[in-house]
Amino acid sequence: MIFKRRSFARGAGRLDMSNIPKHIGIIMDGNGRWASRRGLPRSAGHRRGAQTLEKIVEYCASLGVEVVTAYAFSTENWSRPKDEVDAIMKLLYDYLSDAERRFRDNNTRFTVSGDVSKFSPKLRTAIENTVDITKDGKSITLNLALNYGGRDEIVRAARSLAQDAAQGRLAPDSLDENMFASRLDTASLPEVDLIIRPSGEQRLSNFLLWQAAYAEFWYSDICWPDFTENDMKSAILAYQSRNRRFGGV
Ligand code: FPP
Repeated sequence: MIFKRRSFARGAGRLDMSNIPKHIGIIMDGNGRWASRRGLPRSAGHRRGAQTLEKIVEYCASLGVEVVTAYAFSTENWSRPKDEVDAIMKLLYDYLSDAERRFRDNNTRFTVSGDVSKFSPKLRTAIENTVDITKDGKSITLNLALNYGGRDEIVRAARSLAQDAAQGRLAPDSLDENMFASRLDTASLPEVDLIIRPSGEQRLSNFLLWQAAYAEFWYSDICWPDFTENDMKSAILAYQSRNRRFGGV
């Protein structure tokens, strides 16, 4: 199935379909609180969060958004209790095992930002397979941030440039922003236009540090598992009301 573009979206206010953000970053926060409030284990919140992501990506595709980057596991999340880390790894594996139905059938391309070398060989293989079988997806790109940290990404980019310089392949004076950006995990993706963080927190938490330079931000108190298409629409309407000057006047 290929998602049909919607000329309008439900709920109050009308989206300007000529000004849809190309790339939206989402910090999927509040899964744990969502679960605790219902007397459920935190892992149940993550499972529901993964279902919410699927629904929201489908909605974004229907609007013509090109990329959704979703923060699924940060470089700092290893410090969570082992059973929670294990539950997220299992959830990821199960999610990817169903990739044919989940991504290929609706023409979604799956990519990853982050250092997945720390994951188990089994999970890495599932990630590689999913990236491979979805590489021609044209409807939308779901870029999952996995073992991702903005600082780690910048350090990895700097390390690879330093190696090139040390081996004489790069003149330090020729290094500029475009060359640096080309070594980031998001090198092939459009600029991030909008970053969304639900659940009441208002910080970046090491997400897309470089890419956020000129992104617009939208926060809400809703926990991620309760996030709906209408909330996404509100975020895009807010984005469309902003005057993006990129440092100009
Ligand atoms: C933050 O909520 C969420 C995470 C650290 C993990 C997000 C992971 C998923 C949605 C599932 C994995 C994704 C896929 C696509 C399989 P939190 O646990 O910090 O919530 P809290 O602030 O309420 O405790």
